[in-house]
Parts: sequence; structure tokens; C-alpha cells
Amino acid sequence: MTVRSGSPGQTRRIGYDFAHRVASGAVLSLVGDLGAGKTEFVKGLAEGLGSAANVTSPTFTLVHQYLDGRIPLYHFDLYRLQAEWELDEIGFQEYLRPDVICAIEWGNKTSLPETKISIRFEFGSAETRIVSW
Ligand SMILES: Nc1ncnc2c1ncn2[C@@H]1O[C@H](COP(=O)(O)OP(=O)(O)OP(=O)(O)O)[C@@H](O)[C@H]1O
Ligand SMILES: [Mg+2]
Repeated sequence: MTVRSGSPGQTRRIGYDFAHRVASGAVLSLVGDLGAGKTEFVKGLAEGLGSAANVTSPTFTLVHQYLDGRIPLYHFDLYRLQAEWELDEIGFQEYLRPDVICAIEWGNKTSLPETKISIRFEFGSAETRIVSW
């Protein structure tokens, strides 16, 4: 599936719609360059799951949690990850539970379950982004 987004709001909408199709237990690996729209997507995803939270990038903390929606959402950003042990330190594997959704920016920086859903974000011209999964 490939969707074209023409604005940050449209990318949030793609995330919002995704929230209505995804089941608990999903591990979403969000892959794309800096500024490609991964965090915008997660803002929409969280809203679509019914969270009222203000989603911000977990760049320095590795993970933010949004527990007020119909399925708990854990949002990771592995951009600054230097070594696997940093994930062990936060107990990363224990987040990958069947009753939650994990959305992992830069998910290609670690090994994830085979069942992960990879979502790719690419730049088009100007504000265009191509989102595919
Ligand atoms: N169509 C679009 N979709 C998403 N973001 C867009 C779009 N057009 C412009 N933008 C801008 O691009 C930026 C996307 O930022 P965002 O934080 O979502 O990227 P990211 O992929 O999470 O990057 P990082 O790897 O740094 O976390 C925002 O500043 C947003 O306003
Ligand atoms: Mg981001």
C-alpha cells in the first residue's frame, strides 16, 4: 500500500487511519530519513487510538508511553541508539507485548520480530511524502 501525503496534517491522518486497522500486538517499524514524517504519523496514530496526549519525539529518552487510548502505545525513537545494550537497559523486549502497540522510529537499527509491519517514509517534492507499508 502506498499513500501520498501533501502536508503534515495528511501524514497525521494516515497515522490516524492506520490506528483503526491495526490490532494490538502490532510492532510498527517506521523507517525514513530525518524529517520524513515518522513522528507526525505517530501523532495521528496516538489520536486514532483515542489518546489525548501531545505526542513528542522520544529522541533522548528512547521511549514515550501513551496509555490513555484504547490500546496502550509505546513510541520509540532509536536514532541515537549506539549499542544494543542500551535497549537491554530499558527492557526493550518486555515492551513487545500482545496487548500493546509499539511504534519504533528508526526500527531498522535493531532486530525486531518477523511479524513487524514496516512503514517507509520517503520525500517527494516540497511537502510531499510517500508513505508505504
Ligand atoms: N507531508 C508531510 N508529512 C509530514 N511532515 C511534513 C510533511 N510536509 C512537511 N513536513 C514537515 O516535515 C517534518 C516532519 O517531522 P517529523 O518529526 O515527523 O519527522 P521524523 O521522520 O520523525 O524525523 P526524525 O527522524 O528526526 O525523528 C515536520 O517539520 C513537518 O512539518
Ligand atoms: Mg521523529
